[in-house]
Formats: sequence, structure tokens, C-alpha cells
Amino acid sequence: KRHLISAADLTRDDAVLILDTAEEMARVADRPIKKLPTLRGRTVVNLFYEDSTRTRISFEAAAKRLSADVINFSAKGSSVSKGESLKDTALTLEAMGADAVVIRHPDSGAPHRLATSGWIGGSVLNAGDGTHEHPTQALLDAFTMRRRFTGSGGGSGSPGGGTGRDLSGRHITIVGDILHSRVARSNVHLLSTLGAEVTLVAPPTLVPVGVGSWPCEVTYDLDSVLAKSDAVMMLRVQRERMKDAFFPTEREYARRYGLDGERMSRMPAHALVMHPGPMNRGMEITAEVADSPRCTAVEQVTNGVSIRMAALYLLLGGSEPAVSPRPDTPR
Ligand code: CP
Repeated sequence: KRHLISAADLTRDDAVLILDTAEEMARVADRPIKKLPTLRGRTVVNLFYEDSTRTRISFEAAAKRLSADVINFSAKGSSVSKGESLKDTALTLEAMGADAVVIRHPDSGAPHRLATSGWIGGSVLNAGDGTHEHPTQALLDAFTMRRRFTGSGGGSGSPGGGTGRDLSGRHITIVGDILHSRVARSNVHLLSTLGAEVTLVAPPTLVPVGVGSWPCEVTYDLDSVLAKSDAVMMLRVQRERMKDAFFPTEREYARRYGLDGERMSRMPAHALVMHPGPMNRGMEITAEVADSPRCTAVEQVTNGVSIRMAALYLLLGGSEPAVSPRPDTPR
């Protein structure tokens, strides 16, 4: 594959290859020098039309750890504010020799347009488009679950279910503003491809109309699914994408759909609390839960660098092995 646009495009083998490659990349972080020469001479452009903390910085860190040159483009402060189109911006990046463009855009479908337009010759990686998809977020979430469930680096046996390489037999619950969440859509597709059973929990007004065709269950009752969940992923309510009032008050939302210590205590002892960030503490998650050892939010950020290194390497890397063994590593 040349591009990474959608988690729905990934086969199980594609997804497992990315997760396994990310395991190799994670080992680089344990080395004194956290850098590989693999993408030396290549240029990665981060093209961000929407705000980001985690995704932009971790794509930058990933590209730099692979020795690529990185150009960061933010629509704010650029000629986009003078009316320049995506096409003319893309042609400008192409003229500067971009080998990969990592794009975040408020319009669903913008990365697909960029990948199929012929405006650029390099690879396109979707860093979140509108309410559509955020495939590297889903991959880093799956990577985090696989590591936690297998007790470290994946690939070995998996206590309590699954093969260790995928997430078969696991029950994953995703809670919150599903309607506006590209994270939820990418996770539903990827997790089901990896064999997990996914349940979405949301108020009726925050469930997308077409959800009946997604490979998952839907419920409005969070309390009914806590006890069977291996991981509970909390989502932020995306007020910036809402034009009208959406549901009861914030207080009512927190009461019915927020994860607090009492609800967390009803989850199985091994079950994870996940959050892609940014969090609204006190809304979908209490500080007590966010700061508990069961919450993987910070670990997800760390794992995001390994996943993005894997994605860049697999799309751009060529034939060199990603990670050469250390001299003291027996073969
Ligand atoms: N999870 C995520 O996409 O965070 P950012 O918006 O900070 O990139």
C-alpha cells in the first residue's frame, strides 16, 4: 500500500504487520541513541489544518527518529488564511520534494482527495479528517491493548483470550461522542478486523445514523457493559463540532456517561481505561480515573511514536531491515 487513509482499508495481515513493526520500533526507544538511519534523505511534511498536540508532535518525533527531514505546516499563519486551496498548497509541497504528507483536515475525505488527485507523488497519511477516520490513533490504541493484554511486547500467548498477535476474544467498549468521533470509527473497524467485539455507548443524540452498518453493538447504558469490558475507551465530547445543543446538561452527561472511581471498580481487575486525548477532566472522566494506574492515556502517547515510525517505515522505507540487531544480540 502507498497511503494510510482509513483503518477500514487494512486487512488483518496489514494491521498485524504494522503492530509487529511498531514493536521493533519501540525497541529503538530503549537504546542509548534513539535513532535509525532508515529514512535519511526523505522529507515528511506535517500538513495540519486543525489543531493537534499529540498527533503532530508524535509524527514529527517518529520521522526524526527515522532520520527523515521534517517540515511542519500549520494552516494558521500560512497562505491558507489568504484563501489558498488544498490543491495549490499540495502543489507547493510537491515542488519542495515531499516524500510523505501527513494531513489533518476538518473535512472528511481531504486525505483521500490528496492521495487520489495526482497533486503529489508521495505517500499520504491521514492524521484525522473531520468526523471520518484517524487510523494511526486506532493503531496505537490496538498496540497499547495488545501490549497490556500480553504482558509486554505482543507475539506471545495472551492470558484470558486472543492469540497474542491480534485481539480476538476481547471486549472493547467505546463511550461518548461517537457522532463526531473519527477515533471511534477507526477503532470500530480496526478492532473488529483484529477479532475484538466492540460495543459503543452514547446518548441517543450522539450516535451516528449509519451505525447499524458498523461491525459493533450499540447501547445507551454504560453500566450494563462495564463488567464484561477488557478495555473502556472514553471519548471527549467535541463541542467545537456541534452547532446546536446536543443533550442534557454537562452534569447530566457526566452522571450517565462519565467514568468515575465507582464505575471503574465495577470493571474486571485487568481491564484498561483508555483515552485518546485531549481529556475533559470532570466531564467524560474524573481526575481520579485519569490519574489511576489503569488509565493508559500517557502510554498511548508513547506508543503513538512507535506506530507512526512503523507506518512511515512501511510506506517509505524500502528494503532495508527496520531495526538491525545490536552487536550483543544473539541471532
Ligand atoms: N488524540 C489526538 O488526536 O490528539 P491531538 O488532537 O492532540 O493530536
